[in-house]
Amino acid sequence: MRDGSPKTIYRKEYTAPAFTIADVDLTFAIHHGYTLVSSRLNLHRQRQDEAPWILDGEDLEIECIEIDGTPLQKHEYSYDGSQLTLPQIGDSCQLFTRVRIFPEANTALEGLYRSRTIYCTQCEAEGFRKITFFLDRPDVLAIFKVTVEADKASCPILLSNGNAVSQEDLSEGRYRSVWHDPWPKPCYLFALVAGDLESVSDTFTTTSGREVALNIFVEAKDVNYCDHAMDSLKRSMQWDEEVYGLEYDLDLFNIVAVDDFNMGAMENKGLNIFNTSCVLASPDITTDAGYLRIESIVAHEYFHNFSGNRVTCRDWFQLSLKEGFTVFRDSQFSADMNSPGVKRVEDVSFLRTHQFAEDAGPMAHPVRPDSFIEISNFYTLTVYEKGAEVVRMLHTLLGHELFIAGAKNYFESHDGKAVTCDDFVSAMEQVSGRDLRQFRRWYEQSGTPDLTIEDHYDPVTRLATLTVRQSNGLSADGSKKPPLHLPLAVGLVVNGESHTFEEGSTTRLLEVTEPSQVFQINNVDDKPVVSLLRGFSAPVRLKSADDDNTLAMLIGSDTDDFVKWDAMQRYASRVIEAQMRGESLSGAFVSAYRQVMSSDIDDAMKALLLMLPSEESLADRQAQQGYVDVFEIRAAREHIKKTLAAEFSEQWTAWYSSYDVSETYQANGRQIGRRALRHLALSYLCHAQPKALEWAGTLLSQADNLSDRLAALQVLVNTGDEPIRSAALDNFYEQWQHEALIVNQWFTLQAMRPSADTVEAVIQLQTHGAFDWRNPNKIRALVGGFASANPTAFHRKDGAGYALLGDVIARVQSANPQIAARLCTPLTRFRRYSQGVEAMQSQLERIAGLENLSRDVFEVVGKALEK
Ligand code: TRP
Ligand code: ZN
Repeated sequence: MRDGSPKTIYRKEYTAPAFTIADVDLTFAIHHGYTLVSSRLNLHRQRQDEAPWILDGEDLEIECIEIDGTPLQKHEYSYDGSQLTLPQIGDSCQLFTRVRIFPEANTALEGLYRSRTIYCTQCEAEGFRKITFFLDRPDVLAIFKVTVEADKASCPILLSNGNAVSQEDLSEGRYRSVWHDPWPKPCYLFALVAGDLESVSDTFTTTSGREVALNIFVEAKDVNYCDHAMDSLKRSMQWDEEVYGLEYDLDLFNIVAVDDFNMGAMENKGLNIFNTSCVLASPDITTDAGYLRIESIVAHEYFHNFSGNRVTCRDWFQLSLKEGFTVFRDSQFSADMNSPGVKRVEDVSFLRTHQFAEDAGPMAHPVRPDSFIEISNFYTLTVYEKGAEVVRMLHTLLGHELFIAGAKNYFESHDGKAVTCDDFVSAMEQVSGRDLRQFRRWYEQSGTPDLTIEDHYDPVTRLATLTVRQSNGLSADGSKKPPLHLPLAVGLVVNGESHTFEEGSTTRLLEVTEPSQVFQINNVDDKPVVSLLRGFSAPVRLKSADDDNTLAMLIGSDTDDFVKWDAMQRYASRVIEAQMRGESLSGAFVSAYRQVMSSDIDDAMKALLLMLPSEESLADRQAQQGYVDVFEIRAAREHIKKTLAAEFSEQWTAWYSSYDVSETYQANGRQIGRRALRHLALSYLCHAQPKALEWAGTLLSQADNLSDRLAALQVLVNTGDEPIRSAALDNFYEQWQHEALIVNQWFTLQAMRPSADTVEAVIQLQTHGAFDWRNPNKIRALVGGFASANPTAFHRKDGAGYALLGDVIARVQSANPQIAARLCTPLTRFRRYSQGVEAMQSQLERIAGLENLSRDVFEVVGKALEK
C-alpha cells in the first residue's frame, strides 16, 4: 500500500476551513520535462482558534516558500508529501511558494499533464493539490489570476479560465499570456492548456445583448470535426436562457479536446476540457449514438456553469448536488432537442441495468455518501444517474413551473456559495410550500426500493383499488429502512381505451409515502388494465402481476412510451426465461411482437420495442431470484432471437431492403430511427437469411457513415467464419487506422465478440501497434468492452477472462489509479454468479496484495472482498 493505511473520510466530520484564500496569483513556467509553479495566496484566518496553517500539496518539489516576503528556512515548515504545515502566523498573510512539477511524467492524468503534444489539467476532484499548495476543497472560493509562460513555437496557444488580459513576448522564443477570472471559484474548476492547437470559432449573443466568443480548440487534423459540438453548445446556451432564465456570464467560452482523459469532459470555468471522443464528430468517425452523446455532454458541461460553478458543493459528499441536477438538466435538454420518449426509455434502460446493479453490489452508497476513502471512486451511476432521478422526482412532485421557480430560488439565494443537497431541497420547499422532509431520505438511503402493487376492481361500485407496498431492505444494523416519498404516475386502460380521471387527465399522480397504502379510483367503467409507473416516475423495482394478457394489452394499447417498452421487455424476459425451463415460444408473444412490427409508432421507438432485453438486464432479473448463469442466459436469448428471425424473416428483409441509401447522412431523428430499425433487421437476418453476410459486406463497402459501417462490420465479425472475420477487420483497420476514435471502436467490436477465444484475441490486441497503455480510451475500448459487455467470454469457465482483467489492473493500477479502479467493477460483483466465484475472488485477492496499491483500487477491492 503506497499511502500507508488509507483514511476513511466521513461526511459528519465536516468542519468549515480554518482560513480562506481570497485571491490567487499563479505563474506557470512550462519547460521541456518540468514546470515551475509560483503561487501568491492571500490567506485570512476565519476561525478564532489555534488551528494550524496547513495546506494541501501532493508530491510537490519545493523550491522556495516565503511569508510576507520573507523566505522560510527548512526547519520553519514541515512537508510530508501531502500536507504543508506553516509556522503560526497572525490573522492573515501573503504566502508565496514555488514548486517544480513534472507533467510529462504524469500518467495518472490528474493535475497538470501532457496529452500527446498538449499540456492540460484535470483538477476535479482533488487534482489541484498536485499542481501547487492550496486548500484543495470545494468550499474555498478564490479569484484566480493566471500567467502562463512557454515556448511560442511548440505552444502557440496558452489558455486559462476567464478572460485573456494580455500577452507579451519574452526572450529565447518564449512568451507569456495572462488570464483573469472575475468569478470566485473553488480550485477544482481551475484549468490551463498549452499547446499547438487550431480552433473553430463562432459567437453567441445572449438575450441581454452580450456577445460571447466561442472557440473549440483541437489538434490541426481535427478542425473539420467541430461543427456538431459548436452547434450543440449554441443550442445549450439558448435552452438554458429559455428554460431556466440563465445567461452566460463571461465574454469567452472555450472548449479544448484532448486524447488522454480519465472521464468524458470537465466543466472548468470558461475553459471546458473534453475527451476527444465526446466532442469530435463527423459522419465518418461518429455513430448515431455518438452524435446524441456529444450533444448531451456539451450541454452537460455548459449547464455546469450554473449548476456546479456559480453554485458549487460545500464538500465532495454533496457531489450529486451538481451532478444529479446537471444530468437532469442535460436530459431535459436532449428530450427537447430529440424524441422525449426514446430519450426516456434509453435513460431508464441504462439506469436499470447498470445503476441497479451498482446499488445491489459492494459499492452501493446513498446519492449523498456518508464516507469515502477516495472521492474519485464516487463519480458513480448512483451519484449521477440516480441523483438525476431524484431531481426528476422533485420536478414531477412540484410540476414544471414550481420546479423552475425552485431552481431560480436556488441559483439566486446561493450564488457564489458552496452549499449542500439539503439547501437544494429547501429551495424547492420554499417556493412550493411543500414538506419534503421524508423526500430527503432519497439522499440518505442506498438501495433500490421494491414496489409491489396489486389492483382490484369492483364492478358494482365501479371502484378500482391499488394496494401499494414499498420495501427498502435493511440497514447495516438490521433494522428496516424507512419508507420513501415517491411519485407514482398511473393510468388505466379500459377496453383498449385510456381512462380519463375526474381531474380531466389520463394520468394520475399518486404520492406514495407509507410502507403500505391503498389508492382508490372512482367511476371506472369496466375492469381496467393498470398502467403503472408511467414515464418511470420513480427509480424503483416494480413488482406487479405481469401475466401475459396484461402485458400484451399494455403493449398494444397504452399511450406511455416507457410503460409500453417496459411491458415488451417483461414479456420478452418471461419468454426467454420460459425457454430456459425448456418451454417453447408462446404464440401470444409472437402475435404481440407482430402487432408492434405493424403498428404506426416511429422507427426509433419501434426498434427499442423489438430489441430483446440485453443479457445484462436478464442477469439482473436472475439475480433477483438467485444466481446469474451467463451461459444459460445467452443460449436462451439466442434461441428466441433465432425463432423470431425465422418467424418474421419477410418483415426483416423488407425493412432492410426498403432503406433509401441515396439519402445523404444526417444525424436527425428520422434517419437515426430508420438506421436503428435497419440494423436490428440485419442482426436478425443473420439467423434466417443466407444472404445476410453478403448484404453486410455490401453495406460495409457502400455506406457513407460510421453507424452503418459498424453495424455491418459487427455482423461480419460475430457471424462470419474466421477468414471472413479477419478480412473484414483487416480491411477496416487499413482504411481507418489514421482515426484514433474509429480504431477504438474497432477494438471494442473485437472485444465484444461473443466467443470463448475472444480472451486470446484481447490479449493479442494489447500488443497491437495502435494500442496504448497510457490512453484511457484505448484501455476502456478493449479491456472495458471485454469485461463489461461480453459476459460469456469474460466468464469463460477456465477463469482466463478474469485473469486477463486481473493482469490489466495489476499493470495499470499504479500508473492510472482512477482507470484501474473502474476496471475492477466486473470482478467486484462476483457474488452474483453461479460459477466462477472463487476464480474472481482470487483475482481480487491478488490485486489487494499488490505492492504500491493505489487508494482508489484499495477501496474498491477492499469493499468487494469484505461484504
Ligand atoms: N465533473 C465532470 C463531469 O461530470 C466529471 C469529471 C471529469 C471527473 N473528469 C474527472 C471526475 C476526473 C473525476 C475525475 O462533467
Ligand atoms: Zn458533471
